[in-house]
Amino acid sequence: MNQMTINHYLTEIKQQSSSIDSELCSLIEMISNSCKIISYLVSRGKISGILDNVNSKNFHGEVQKKLDVMANQILLETNEQLECLAGIASEEMENVYLIPNHYSKGKYLLLFDPLDGSSNINTNSSIGTIFSILSIPHSSSKMLGNAMLTTEKDFLQSGDNQVAAGYAIYGPQSQFVFTVGTGIVIFTLDREVDSWIMTHNEIIIPEDTQEFSINTSNMRHWDDKISSYIRNCIAGETGPFRKNYNMRWIASMVADVHRILMRGGIFLYPWDKRNPNEPGKLRLMYEANPISFIIEQAGENQ
Ligand code: F6P
Repeated sequence: MNQMTINHYLTEIKQQSSSIDSELCSLIEMISNSCKIISYLVSRGKISGILDNVNSKNFHGEVQKKLDVMANQILLETNEQLECLAGIASEEMENVYLIPNHYSKGKYLLLFDPLDGSSNINTNSSIGTIFSILSIPHSSSKMLGNAMLTTEKDFLQSGDNQVAAGYAIYGPQSQFVFTVGTGIVIFTLDREVDSWIMTHNEIIIPEDTQEFSINTSNMRHWDDKISSYIRNCIAGETGPFRKNYNMRWIASMVADVHRILMRGGIFLYPWDKRNPNEPGKLRLMYEANPISFIIEQAGENQ
């Protein structure tokens, strides 16, 4: 069997599309390398002592584990020296990291959630890394000599502007899933050769589904429309949808979304009355935007 690596795939896709350049390809490959290291750490679990809490909370008030901090460091350190990047933003960091002027800089901005679903680490459930890539908007770029000056504002772009996005899932198999806007590809980590090997492409989410994914323990806090939709699903054949549904909730978005990519369904984490001034629990730029790009690319009309 011919085994397609991420490098082979990106080389092929670059020849087919003028919007995909060598810098973007190197960046995606480097992220996949970082995820390989994180996958190894996750698989060693307690043996490597990385499951303990550290005595700190992240910017969003969540308790951090050693592994959260390490995953963030790995992604930061492996990618910061790439000449294609201008800045990095992470869910685990309060401020964006702008590539220092003494490094060569490029036009891309990398955003990531180093370890999504990390409250599940101790239960040995699937968790993941989510990433999104933007480029510096032309309108805002100023030059300092030959280098572009980047500011925090450059990150504040609509999800439509993403040039690539994806996630790694660390489960029974580790998989690296991404899109550069030309459909979804999935690579599975072959530990024997220490390489991501393509195992799925042209993924389309099955239209006909029986599964919904939402934390129903929050039902009392939801908006009436969401409650009514979920009540209709639960009513099954006797309700207005005239169909029996099943519910799945892993509490790790990467794992729930990956299942939907494979066999269909719907994932919801709606706004609720507990924090009425916040739009929702999921973070737009680290979680919702990249996952939305993936799901959009796995739609029938791509
Ligand atoms: O936003 C982080 C996250 O861990 C998601 O991965 C997951 O879907 C959700 O939160 C779980 O939230 P809860 O514990 O409220 O069900």
